[in-house]
Amino acid sequence: MKNIAVFTSGGDAPGMNSCIRAVVRTALHHDIQTFGVLRGYQGMIDDDFVELKRESVSNIIQMGGTILRSASSLEFRTPEGRRKAYENLQRRNIEGIVAIGGDGTFTGANIFMQEYPDIRITGCPGTIDNDLNGTDYTIGYDTAINTAMEAIDKIKDTANAHDRLFFIEVMGRDAGFIAMATAIATGAEAVLIPETPTDLDKLIQTLKEGWLRKKSSSIVIVAEGEEEGGAFKVAEKVKEKLNFYEIKVSILGHMQRGGQPTCMERLRASRMGVEAVEALLQGKKGVMIGVVNDEIVHTPFEQAIKHNLVINPTLLRMVDILS
Ligand code: F6P
Repeated sequence: MKNIAVFTSGGDAPGMNSCIRAVVRTALHHDIQTFGVLRGYQGMIDDDFVELKRESVSNIIQMGGTILRSASSLEFRTPEGRRKAYENLQRRNIEGIVAIGGDGTFTGANIFMQEYPDIRITGCPGTIDNDLNGTDYTIGYDTAINTAMEAIDKIKDTANAHDRLFFIEVMGRDAGFIAMATAIATGAEAVLIPETPTDLDKLIQTLKEGWLRKKSSSIVIVAEGEEEGGAFKVAEKVKEKLNFYEIKVSILGHMQRGGQPTCMERLRASRMGVEAVEALLQGKKGVMIGVVNDEIVHTPFEQAIKHNLVINPTLLRMVDILS
């Protein structure tokens, strides 16, 4: 193998740059040239490739976002689009690809490899949502929970000063991992996540009990994909039945996707990037590189993207006990 490509796709995540750097430097170590594909699958179709040299990835390990940009591509969903992408890869003799992204990225990779079996793709899990099988942590999750935690801590200061109840919405369209981690880490009264039904009566009861215990403020963490439709909707319903707190809503939004990756993020993203290249060299394809119990593991794409993740019920219980 003489040439490989690397791209990022789906929602960007802090640590993607650390991973790109590891891919390029590992490839160089094995005398392989790396091409960066700009804007994911769409760039592959549009022939948007850049040669990545050692210095191209200098000083990026600490940067948020992705130097390769990210985009979703409707055209790649068509056989014509995939043919164009394949031809652009062929012209550069690219035999292996490292795809950094989430479920959409790996779904596309599988279809592409079925049509063009001479292309080998390995993947690194890149999404702040932590919603992939085969890894304890996705690239971006650790930074996102720290960013959200810091923001929530700050909101807590002002909530306390004014005896207010805050509903704070964190990201997680389909998954409650960010919500669960930040709820425990900030001592929230309750957490609402997509994986479990939203029980408003129980929530109101918890908040009432807190008031009776003379709590000056309360924080409820709401994952954007929970059953009621997010923090504003939940706040409206709670307002109808609770009158002792002034209620406020805060949506943390895309700030959770940005910022400098944490040390653990850089470390894990680097490990995954090294392994993704070396797996290609060993002839592997169609696998996502993950870290489970601090060991590198390979998981077939179709397993990695199965939406059968469960939130550890012990964590949910902890929120109740500790609030
Ligand atoms: O990166 C994953 C994610 O953060 C989801 O939790 C969220 O719903 C989504 O991205 C929003 O992304 P965008 O605004 O780019 O569509």
